[in-house]
Amino acid sequence: MSALESKVAFISGGADGIGLAVVERFIQEGACVAVLDMNQEKLELLQAQYPDQICTVCGDVTSYEDNQKAVELALQRFGQLDTFIGNAAIFDYFASLSRIQPEQLASSFDRLFRVNVLGYMNGVKASLDALKASQGNIVLTVSNSGFYPGGGGVLYVTSKHAVVGLIKQLAYELAPEIRVNGVSPGATDTAMKSVEGVSRKSQPLNHIEGFHEKAAQAVPLKRIAAPADHASLYVLLASNEQSPMTTGCVIHSDGGWIA
Ligand code: NAI
Repeated sequence: MSALESKVAFISGGADGIGLAVVERFIQEGACVAVLDMNQEKLELLQAQYPDQICTVCGDVTSYEDNQKAVELALQRFGQLDTFIGNAAIFDYFASLSRIQPEQLASSFDRLFRVNVLGYMNGVKASLDALKASQGNIVLTVSNSGFYPGGGGVLYVTSKHAVVGLIKQLAYELAPEIRVNGVSPGATDTAMKSVEGVSRKSQPLNHIEGFHEKAAQAVPLKRIAAPADHASLYVLLASNEQSPMTTGCVIHSDGGWIA
């Protein structure tokens, strides 16, 4: 039997990048998935490709109501919810605090923290009753920037450290019913975007000239990841059979960067 046969997941930011790779892997493993994302066009493609296994909500993770809609839709369409995956996030490529203009700081901070931290909290809160009923679990996407300073920029690095704290706190708060863990990718070939106003480069991550080469040099395995490289770790942590005693833990998927 596949690892997630008859399971149902809710994934934020599942229309592109790492989230999309996780959605596709979960479907291969027998799960159905509710996706909350802002990208209407990509959601439509996903819905057309997997009409029976996917339901979608076009919305913003910073809205609690949009998260609630995704949970309600998952319950309506598939009858249960077993896993919440918080994944949608934005970036601030090489924005150092000393370079950010004072008048830009508060608005960029508000937007980035609302997406990267409040967005995960909204998803968890909206999913809680359903996850308690199924003895489910939560997986949050972290980043090397949750452990080390660097290219992420001051807002992103601080927000991802907050996500590590959130995982630990939630694992403590929600035990023994719900396991809570994280997957921490290193540099990955996606079009992740930066928050308005503070980044040194505003193009999507994988359109920044030299990004691949520069990032690959820092990785002991000497390449940056493809989104699909991380997907099995989400399956592992979402499976109560495969990781029954794992909670409050973050698994690194970064080619050894952190070693
Ligand atoms: P991506 O930009 O390719 O995908 C993110 C998805 O989230 C997109 O479909 C986007 O529309 C959606 N999204 C963004 N803001 C949203 C909002 N407010 N409401 C609803 N949907 C929203 O990005 P990627 O790279 O796949 O990032 C996924 C996760 O992986 C993030 O948590 C990111 O911090 C993390 N990560 C990415 C790395 C990379 O090098 N790409 C490295 C380490 C971690």
